Amino acid sequence: MKLTNIRLEVMQTIEKSMDEMLEKYLKPIETNWQPSDFLPDSKDDDFFDKIRELQGQAQEMSYDLLAVLIGDTITEEALPTYEAWLMSVEGVDNDGRNGWSQWVRSWTAEENRHGDLLNKYLYLCGRVDMREMEISTQYLISDGFDIGTGRDPYKNFVYTSFQELATNVSHRRVATLARKANNPELAKMCAFIAADEARHASAYIHFVNKIMELDADQMMLAFEDMMRKKIVMPAHLMRQSGSDLGLGELFDHFSDAAQRIQVYTTHDYIDILRSLIDQWNIGNISGLTDIGNKARDYIMALPDRLQRISERVKIPEKQYEFNWIGKIA
Ligand SMILES: [Fe+2]
Ligand SMILES: [Fe+2]
Repeated sequence: MKLTNIRLEVMQTIEKSMDEMLEKYLKPIETNWQPSDFLPDSKDDDFFDKIRELQGQAQEMSYDLLAVLIGDTITEEALPTYEAWLMSVEGVDNDGRNGWSQWVRSWTAEENRHGDLLNKYLYLCGRVDMREMEISTQYLISDGFDIGTGRDPYKNFVYTSFQELATNVSHRRVATLARKANNPELAKMCAFIAADEARHASAYIHFVNKIMELDADQMMLAFEDMMRKKIVMPAHLMRQSGSDLGLGELFDHFSDAAQRIQVYTTHDYIDILRSLIDQWNIGNISGLTDIGNKARDYIMALPDRLQRISERVKIPEKQYEFNWIGKIA
């Protein structure tokens, strides 16, 4: 009970500078990019020529790259899960419309453009079984996720910091691969999405830094706890129609594809961890008690440990056939 009260106090203290944070980390709606900025305008006379061009550019993308892009889109489209979860975090009050719930709503509004843009692109590109993709999306929203944060704001901000960095990496790499596959338009879309993710990551990293100033021991324990559990991806429960795969297996196939084409790998996980340790100045936080120090020791030793383990992991070379795309040509 006592811990909860301190967390609420900390959230309320940080909330006082919410106006500043909204202005710094989110963009004004009317000048922000919108999905239609990147897509052919159906009111234009040359709409169908533009679609043919877009479909032509989509031809060279590899099976794995397309599968990863679809999986990323499904992940973005499960946004209702993420908003509902963030709204339930201690200190976020949607009823009273406090600063934190304003943050969650405005963040959601920005994120909503990601799934919207990618979905429209995939619909137009002519290579995707949209009905299968939509079934996976509906399943994922219906199943939700299980990320081990509870309603704890400290753990939640560790998770969101990590996730925003991870999605930045993966959209950025898809952009690079799309450019190499002669698909500059898709490359541009993914680069813009990646830039949003980077901006969101700085916000969540900032929140944790503020908490660290106010409640270092507990923040350190929350970081340790999340890293012991491992950060699972928000789409870890993803599934597809008529599949006899066990829970989490479809995600593993998606993740193998991402590792094969180096869009998001175990090394990226470790790099993100190192970057968070650095940005939260974990090695130099002062005023910790014994438990805080122990948590810090665990965190500081973790990247090297994970590095050693990762050297033993082998990624399957065989591509998996997703319902979203169908047979490998
Ligand atoms: Fe996103
Ligand atoms: Fe994001």
